Amino acid sequence: MISHVLPTYNRAPIAFERGEGVWAIATDGTRYLDLGAGIAVNVLGHANPDLVAALTEQAGRIWHVSNLYQIPEQEKLADLLVEHSFADTVFFTNSGTEAAELAIKMARKYWDHQGDPERIEILTFEGAFHGRSTGAIAAAGSEKMVKGFGPLMPGFRQLPWGDMQALRDAISDRTCAVMIEPVQGEGGIRPMDDADLRELRTLCDQTGTLLILDEVQCGVGRTGRLFAHEYAGIAPDIMMVAKGIGGGFPLGAVAASEGAAAGMVAGTHGSTYGGNPLACAVGARVMQIVANDDFLAEVNRKAALFRQRLEGLVASHPTVFQAVRGQGLMLGLKCHASPADLVKAGYAQGILTVPAADNTLRMLPPLNISDEEIAEAVTRLDRAAESLDA
Ligand SMILES: Cc1ncc(COP(=O)(O)O)c(C=O)c1O
Repeated sequence: MISHVLPTYNRAPIAFERGEGVWAIATDGTRYLDLGAGIAVNVLGHANPDLVAALTEQAGRIWHVSNLYQIPEQEKLADLLVEHSFADTVFFTNSGTEAAELAIKMARKYWDHQGDPERIEILTFEGAFHGRSTGAIAAAGSEKMVKGFGPLMPGFRQLPWGDMQALRDAISDRTCAVMIEPVQGEGGIRPMDDADLRELRTLCDQTGTLLILDEVQCGVGRTGRLFAHEYAGIAPDIMMVAKGIGGGFPLGAVAASEGAAAGMVAGTHGSTYGGNPLACAVGARVMQIVANDDFLAEVNRKAALFRQRLEGLVASHPTVFQAVRGQGLMLGLKCHASPADLVKAGYAQGILTVPAADNTLRMLPPLNISDEEIAEAVTRLDRAAESLDA
Protein backbone atom coordinates (compact mmCIF):
# COMPACT_ATOMS: atom_id res chain seq x y z
CA MET A 1 0.00 0.00 0.00
CA ILE A 2 1.31 3.44 -0.85
CA SER A 3 2.41 5.55 2.11
CA HIS A 4 0.22 8.51 2.98
CA VAL A 5 3.18 10.74 2.13
CA LEU A 6 3.88 10.32 -1.60
CA PRO A 7 7.00 8.14 -1.71
CA THR A 8 9.20 10.30 -3.97
CA TYR A 9 12.04 10.31 -1.42
CA ASN A 10 14.18 7.45 -0.10
CA ARG A 11 14.07 8.66 3.49
CA ALA A 12 16.47 7.65 6.23
CA PRO A 13 14.71 6.16 9.29
CA ILE A 14 15.44 9.20 11.46
CA ALA A 15 12.97 11.88 12.61
CA PHE A 16 14.02 15.08 14.31
CA GLU A 17 12.10 16.82 17.03
CA ARG A 18 14.25 19.86 17.66
CA GLY A 19 17.48 21.58 16.78
CA GLU A 20 20.07 23.72 18.56
CA GLY A 21 22.55 25.52 16.33
CA VAL A 22 24.49 22.93 14.36
CA TRP A 23 22.82 20.05 16.22
CA ALA A 24 19.65 18.24 15.20
CA ILE A 25 18.11 16.09 17.93
CA ALA A 26 16.17 13.00 16.91
CA THR A 27 13.01 11.70 18.54
CA ASP A 28 15.08 8.94 20.20
CA GLY A 29 17.34 11.59 21.75
CA THR A 30 20.35 11.02 19.47
CA ARG A 31 22.23 14.26 18.73
CA TYR A 32 23.39 14.59 15.13
CA LEU A 33 25.95 17.13 13.97
CA ASP A 34 24.07 18.60 11.02
CA LEU A 35 26.42 19.28 8.11
CA GLY A 36 23.52 19.13 5.65
CA ALA A 37 21.59 22.03 7.20
CA GLY A 38 18.46 21.05 5.29
CA ILE A 39 20.59 21.12 2.13
CA ALA A 40 22.24 24.52 2.53
CA VAL A 41 19.17 26.10 4.12
CA ASN A 42 19.78 26.63 7.86
CA VAL A 43 22.58 29.17 7.35
CA LEU A 44 22.42 30.31 10.97
CA GLY A 45 21.70 26.91 12.48
CA HIS A 46 18.57 25.49 14.07
CA ALA A 47 16.38 27.61 16.35
CA ASN A 48 18.66 30.62 15.97
CA PRO A 49 17.43 33.09 18.64
CA ASP A 50 17.64 36.12 16.29
CA LEU A 51 15.56 34.37 13.63
CA VAL A 52 13.08 32.95 16.17
CA ALA A 53 12.60 36.50 17.47
CA ALA A 54 12.13 37.93 13.95
CA LEU A 55 9.58 35.23 13.11
CA THR A 56 7.59 35.32 16.33
CA GLU A 57 7.55 39.10 16.47
CA GLN A 58 6.12 39.17 12.94
CA ALA A 59 3.74 36.27 13.70
CA GLY A 60 2.21 38.32 16.49
CA ARG A 61 1.49 41.21 14.11
CA ILE A 62 0.38 39.93 10.69
CA TRP A 63 1.02 36.62 8.90
CA HIS A 64 -0.16 37.12 5.40
CA VAL A 65 -1.30 39.89 3.12
CA SER A 66 -1.80 39.75 -0.61
CA ASN A 67 0.62 41.27 -3.07
CA LEU A 68 -2.35 43.45 -4.01
CA TYR A 69 -1.08 45.70 -1.19
CA GLN A 70 2.20 47.24 -0.11
CA ILE A 71 4.19 44.83 2.09
CA PRO A 72 6.74 46.79 4.17
CA GLU A 73 8.66 43.64 5.26
CA GLN A 74 9.09 42.72 1.58
CA GLU A 75 10.31 46.20 0.71
CA LYS A 76 12.83 46.07 3.55
CA LEU A 77 14.27 42.77 2.32
CA ALA A 78 14.32 44.01 -1.29
CA ASP A 79 16.20 47.13 -0.12
CA LEU A 80 18.80 44.93 1.61
CA LEU A 81 19.27 42.70 -1.44
CA VAL A 82 19.60 45.69 -3.76
CA GLU A 83 22.01 47.41 -1.38
CA HIS A 84 24.26 44.34 -1.19
CA SER A 85 24.21 43.14 -4.81
CA PHE A 86 24.23 44.19 -8.46
CA ALA A 87 20.42 44.14 -8.54
CA ASP A 88 18.00 47.01 -9.03
CA THR A 89 14.84 45.03 -8.36
CA VAL A 90 13.68 41.82 -6.67
CA PHE A 91 10.68 39.47 -6.93
CA PHE A 92 10.10 37.11 -4.01
CA THR A 93 9.19 33.45 -4.40
CA ASN A 94 8.68 30.52 -2.02
CA SER A 95 11.44 28.30 -3.40
CA GLY A 96 14.39 27.98 -5.74
CA THR A 97 12.27 26.24 -8.34
CA GLU A 98 9.91 29.18 -8.53
CA ALA A 99 12.91 31.48 -8.84
CA ALA A 100 14.07 29.37 -11.81
CA GLU A 101 10.65 29.68 -13.45
CA LEU A 102 10.68 33.45 -13.13
CA ALA A 103 14.30 33.75 -14.29
CA ILE A 104 13.40 31.84 -17.47
CA LYS A 105 10.25 33.89 -18.00
CA MET A 106 12.05 37.17 -17.35
CA ALA A 107 14.80 36.40 -19.87
CA ARG A 108 12.35 35.43 -22.60
CA LYS A 109 10.10 38.36 -21.84
CA TYR A 110 13.11 40.67 -22.15
CA TRP A 111 13.58 39.67 -25.78
CA ASP A 112 9.87 39.86 -26.48
CA HIS A 113 9.94 43.37 -25.04
CA GLN A 114 12.91 44.17 -27.33
CA GLY A 115 10.75 43.11 -30.31
CA ASP A 116 12.60 39.79 -30.79
CA PRO A 117 10.16 37.16 -29.41
CA GLU A 118 11.87 34.31 -31.29
CA ARG A 119 15.06 34.76 -29.28
CA ILE A 120 14.23 32.06 -26.73
CA GLU A 121 17.17 29.65 -26.55
CA ILE A 122 18.69 29.29 -23.09
CA LEU A 123 22.05 27.55 -22.73
CA THR A 124 22.40 25.38 -19.62
CA PHE A 125 24.92 22.81 -18.40
CA GLU A 126 25.20 19.11 -17.77
CA GLY A 127 25.01 18.26 -14.08
CA ALA A 128 22.93 21.38 -13.41
CA PHE A 129 20.03 21.43 -11.01
CA HIS A 130 17.51 24.25 -11.08
CA GLY A 131 14.49 22.59 -9.45
CA ARG A 132 11.68 20.18 -10.29
CA SER A 133 9.07 22.21 -12.17
CA THR A 134 8.60 21.32 -15.83
CA GLY A 135 10.60 24.41 -16.83
CA ALA A 136 13.43 23.69 -14.41
CA ILE A 137 13.74 20.03 -15.46
CA ALA A 138 13.76 21.07 -19.11
CA ALA A 139 16.58 23.47 -18.27
CA ALA A 140 18.70 20.81 -16.54
CA GLY A 141 17.70 18.16 -19.06
CA SER A 142 19.00 15.16 -17.12
CA GLU A 143 17.43 11.84 -18.07
CA LYS A 144 16.67 11.01 -14.42
CA MET A 145 14.60 14.15 -13.94
CA VAL A 146 12.76 14.37 -17.26
CA LYS A 147 11.96 10.71 -18.05
CA GLY A 148 8.26 10.00 -18.22
CA PHE A 149 7.05 13.55 -17.81
CA GLY A 150 6.02 14.05 -21.41
CA PRO A 151 7.06 16.76 -23.83
CA LEU A 152 9.56 19.18 -22.36
CA MET A 153 9.46 22.92 -22.61
CA PRO A 154 11.48 23.68 -25.75
CA GLY A 155 14.35 26.13 -26.08
CA PHE A 156 17.06 24.72 -23.81
CA ARG A 157 20.44 23.35 -24.87
CA GLN A 158 22.74 21.62 -22.38
CA LEU A 159 26.48 22.07 -22.78
CA PRO A 160 29.23 20.06 -21.10
CA TRP A 161 30.28 21.48 -17.72
CA GLY A 162 33.60 23.32 -17.79
CA ASP A 163 33.99 23.19 -21.59
CA MET A 164 34.54 26.81 -22.58
CA GLN A 165 35.03 25.93 -26.23
CA ALA A 166 31.56 24.35 -26.36
CA LEU A 167 30.19 27.57 -24.87
CA ARG A 168 32.06 29.78 -27.36
CA ASP A 169 30.68 27.64 -30.20
CA ALA A 170 27.10 27.61 -28.89
CA ILE A 171 26.54 31.24 -27.88
CA SER A 172 25.48 33.70 -30.55
CA ASP A 173 23.47 36.84 -31.04
CA ARG A 174 20.41 34.56 -31.17
CA THR A 175 20.95 33.22 -27.63
CA CYS A 176 18.36 34.43 -25.14
CA ALA A 177 20.30 33.64 -21.96
CA VAL A 178 22.89 31.45 -20.30
CA MET A 179 21.75 29.91 -17.02
CA ILE A 180 24.44 28.49 -14.73
CA GLU A 181 25.33 27.74 -11.11
CA PRO A 182 28.66 29.42 -10.21
CA VAL A 183 29.21 26.36 -8.00
CA GLN A 184 27.24 23.28 -9.02
CA GLY A 185 25.64 21.82 -5.90
CA GLU A 186 23.66 18.70 -6.77
CA GLY A 187 26.13 18.17 -9.64
CA GLY A 188 28.91 17.44 -7.11
CA ILE A 189 30.21 20.71 -5.55
CA ARG A 190 31.93 21.84 -8.73
CA PRO A 191 33.01 25.50 -8.68
CA MET A 192 33.36 27.30 -11.97
CA ASP A 193 36.77 28.89 -12.57
CA ASP A 194 36.76 32.65 -11.96
CA ALA A 195 38.45 33.14 -15.34
CA ASP A 196 35.74 31.07 -17.06
CA LEU A 197 33.01 33.03 -15.35
CA ARG A 198 34.64 36.28 -16.52
CA GLU A 199 34.87 34.93 -20.06
CA LEU A 200 31.22 33.86 -19.91
CA ARG A 201 30.28 37.43 -18.90
CA THR A 202 32.30 38.79 -21.85
CA LEU A 203 30.67 36.35 -24.29
CA CYS A 204 27.24 37.41 -23.00
CA ASP A 205 28.16 41.09 -23.41
CA GLN A 206 29.46 40.55 -26.93
CA THR A 207 26.29 38.76 -28.05
CA GLY A 208 23.76 40.68 -25.92
CA THR A 209 22.87 37.41 -24.15
CA LEU A 210 21.45 37.66 -20.62
CA LEU A 211 23.45 35.97 -17.87
CA ILE A 212 21.32 34.15 -15.28
CA LEU A 213 23.22 32.92 -12.24
CA ASP A 214 21.59 30.28 -10.06
CA GLU A 215 22.85 31.08 -6.57
CA VAL A 216 20.09 29.09 -4.86
CA GLN A 217 22.61 26.77 -3.19
CA CYS A 218 25.89 28.74 -3.36
CA GLY A 219 24.51 32.17 -2.43
CA VAL A 220 23.89 33.96 0.89
CA GLY A 221 27.39 33.62 2.34
CA ARG A 222 27.79 29.92 1.61
CA THR A 223 31.04 30.33 -0.34
CA GLY A 224 32.48 33.01 1.93
CA ARG A 225 31.19 35.89 -0.19
CA LEU A 226 27.59 37.05 0.00
CA PHE A 227 27.17 35.77 -3.58
CA ALA A 228 29.60 33.34 -5.22
CA HIS A 229 29.98 35.35 -8.46
CA GLU A 230 31.65 38.15 -6.49
CA TYR A 231 34.89 36.10 -6.52
CA ALA A 232 35.09 36.59 -10.30
CA GLY A 233 34.35 40.30 -10.02
CA ILE A 234 31.42 40.07 -12.42
CA ALA A 235 27.68 40.67 -12.12
CA PRO A 236 24.84 38.71 -13.70
CA ASP A 237 21.76 40.24 -15.28
CA ILE A 238 19.42 37.96 -13.35
CA MET A 239 20.15 35.96 -10.19
CA MET A 240 18.15 33.23 -8.48
CA VAL A 241 18.35 33.04 -4.69
CA ALA A 242 16.58 30.72 -2.20
CA LYS A 243 17.57 28.22 0.53
CA GLY A 244 19.86 30.27 2.83
CA ILE A 245 18.01 33.54 2.40
CA GLY A 246 15.12 32.24 4.53
CA GLY A 247 17.35 30.56 7.13
CA GLY A 248 14.84 27.68 7.14
CA PHE A 249 11.67 29.59 6.32
CA PRO A 250 10.54 28.96 2.70
CA LEU A 251 11.75 31.97 0.72
CA GLY A 252 13.33 32.59 -2.65
CA ALA A 253 13.99 35.55 -4.87
CA VAL A 254 14.88 36.65 -8.35
CA ALA A 255 17.14 39.69 -8.33
CA ALA A 256 17.68 41.54 -11.59
CA SER A 257 19.09 44.63 -13.21
CA GLU A 258 16.56 47.21 -14.29
CA GLY A 259 17.35 46.48 -17.94
CA ALA A 260 16.87 42.70 -17.66
CA ALA A 261 13.58 43.18 -15.83
CA ALA A 262 12.24 45.63 -18.41
CA GLY A 263 9.57 43.25 -19.75
CA MET A 264 8.13 42.33 -16.36
CA VAL A 265 5.43 44.95 -16.11
CA ALA A 266 2.24 44.75 -14.01
CA GLY A 267 0.29 41.56 -14.65
CA THR A 268 3.17 39.55 -16.16
CA HIS A 269 3.94 37.51 -13.01
CA GLY A 270 2.61 36.91 -9.53
CA SER A 271 2.47 34.67 -6.47
CA THR A 272 0.02 34.38 -3.60
CA TYR A 273 2.65 33.66 -0.95
CA GLY A 274 5.80 35.07 -2.56
CA GLY A 275 7.13 37.83 -0.32
CA ASN A 276 4.91 36.81 2.60
CA PRO A 277 5.57 39.03 5.67
CA LEU A 278 6.70 36.09 7.85
CA ALA A 279 9.24 34.92 5.26
CA CYS A 280 10.51 38.43 4.58
CA ALA A 281 10.86 39.33 8.26
CA VAL A 282 13.12 36.28 8.68
CA GLY A 283 14.92 36.96 5.37
CA ALA A 284 15.71 40.54 6.38
CA ARG A 285 17.23 39.32 9.66
CA VAL A 286 19.31 36.73 7.79
CA MET A 287 20.61 39.44 5.47
CA GLN A 288 21.41 41.81 8.35
CA ILE A 289 23.56 39.08 9.92
CA VAL A 290 25.17 37.48 6.84
CA ALA A 291 25.76 40.54 4.63
CA ASN A 292 28.46 41.73 6.99
CA ASP A 293 32.20 41.75 6.33
CA ASP A 294 33.14 40.45 9.79
CA PHE A 295 30.64 37.59 9.54
CA LEU A 296 31.91 36.62 6.07
CA ALA A 297 35.55 36.86 7.22
CA GLU A 298 34.69 34.33 9.95
CA VAL A 299 33.04 32.04 7.37
CA ASN A 300 36.28 32.14 5.36
CA ARG A 301 38.46 31.49 8.39
CA LYS A 302 36.35 28.51 9.41
CA ALA A 303 36.18 27.25 5.84
CA ALA A 304 39.99 27.22 5.64
CA LEU A 305 40.17 25.31 8.92
CA PHE A 306 37.53 22.80 7.81
CA ARG A 307 39.20 22.32 4.46
CA GLN A 308 42.59 21.71 6.02
CA ARG A 309 41.08 19.06 8.32
CA LEU A 310 39.28 17.43 5.41
CA GLU A 311 42.55 17.26 3.44
CA GLY A 312 43.93 15.33 6.42
CA LEU A 313 40.93 13.00 6.32
CA VAL A 314 41.50 12.30 2.61
CA ALA A 315 45.16 11.50 3.35
CA SER A 316 44.13 9.09 6.15
CA HIS A 317 41.53 7.24 4.05
CA PRO A 318 42.89 7.10 0.50
CA THR A 319 40.73 4.11 -0.36
CA VAL A 320 37.52 5.98 0.56
CA PHE A 321 38.26 9.58 -0.47
CA GLN A 322 39.92 11.11 -3.50
CA ALA A 323 39.92 14.86 -2.90
CA VAL A 324 38.33 17.87 -1.22
CA ARG A 325 36.29 20.21 -3.39
CA GLY A 326 34.32 23.39 -3.05
CA GLN A 327 34.48 26.95 -1.88
CA GLY A 328 33.87 28.42 1.58
CA LEU A 329 31.49 26.25 3.59
CA MET A 330 30.15 24.59 0.46
CA LEU A 331 32.45 21.59 0.69
CA GLY A 332 32.57 18.24 -1.02
CA LEU A 333 34.55 15.07 -0.51
CA LYS A 334 35.03 13.31 -3.81
CA CYS A 335 34.77 9.59 -3.00
CA HIS A 336 36.00 6.55 -4.89
CA ALA A 337 32.53 5.04 -4.84
CA SER A 338 28.98 6.28 -4.32
CA PRO A 339 28.82 8.44 -1.17
CA ALA A 340 25.54 6.77 -0.08
CA ASP A 341 27.36 4.25 2.16
CA LEU A 342 29.32 7.05 3.78
CA VAL A 343 26.16 9.06 4.46
CA LYS A 344 24.71 5.95 6.13
CA ALA A 345 27.90 5.26 8.10
CA GLY A 346 27.69 8.90 9.21
CA TYR A 347 24.23 8.32 10.73
CA ALA A 348 25.76 5.64 12.95
CA GLN A 349 28.35 8.21 14.10
CA GLY A 350 25.79 10.96 14.68
CA ILE A 351 26.62 13.15 11.69
CA LEU A 352 24.43 14.30 8.79
CA THR A 353 25.90 14.78 5.32
CA VAL A 354 24.28 14.83 1.89
CA PRO A 355 25.18 12.87 -1.24
CA ALA A 356 25.63 14.63 -4.58
CA ALA A 357 26.37 13.49 -8.13
CA ASP A 358 29.89 12.68 -9.31
CA ASN A 359 30.50 10.48 -6.23
CA THR A 360 30.64 13.50 -3.96
CA LEU A 361 29.70 13.79 -0.30
CA ARG A 362 28.37 17.26 0.47
CA MET A 363 28.94 19.31 3.59
CA LEU A 364 26.95 22.54 3.85
CA PRO A 365 26.97 23.34 7.57
CA PRO A 366 25.39 26.35 9.22
CA LEU A 367 27.75 29.27 8.55
CA ASN A 368 28.10 29.91 12.30
CA ILE A 369 29.51 26.45 13.05
CA SER A 370 32.25 26.71 15.71
CA ASP A 371 35.87 25.56 15.47
CA GLU A 372 35.11 22.84 18.06
CA GLU A 373 32.15 21.62 16.01
CA ILE A 374 34.34 21.48 12.90
CA ALA A 375 36.85 19.35 14.84
CA GLU A 376 34.03 17.13 16.11
CA ALA A 377 32.62 16.79 12.58
CA VAL A 378 35.96 15.62 11.23
CA THR A 379 36.34 13.12 14.11
CA ARG A 380 32.90 11.69 13.31
CA LEU A 381 33.60 11.58 9.56
CA ASP A 382 36.88 9.83 10.33
CA ARG A 383 35.03 7.14 12.31
CA ALA A 384 32.47 6.78 9.52
CA ALA A 385 35.24 6.33 6.94
CA GLU A 386 37.01 3.86 9.26
CA SER A 387 33.88 1.73 9.43
CA LEU A 388 33.92 1.59 5.62
CA ASP A 389 37.68 0.86 5.53
CA ALA A 390 36.97 -2.08 7.83
C1 LIG B 1 21.18 25.35 -7.57
C2 LIG B 1 19.75 25.06 -7.25
N1 LIG B 1 18.78 25.65 -7.96
C3 LIG B 1 17.48 25.43 -7.69
C4 LIG B 1 17.09 24.55 -6.71
C5 LIG B 1 15.63 24.32 -6.43
O1 LIG B 1 15.29 24.90 -5.21
P1 LIG B 1 14.01 24.42 -4.40
O2 LIG B 1 14.26 23.01 -3.97
O3 LIG B 1 13.91 25.41 -3.26
O4 LIG B 1 12.84 24.53 -5.29
C6 LIG B 1 18.06 23.90 -5.95
C7 LIG B 1 17.67 22.94 -4.91
O5 LIG B 1 18.44 22.11 -4.49
C8 LIG B 1 19.43 24.15 -6.24
O6 LIG B 1 20.39 23.54 -5.55
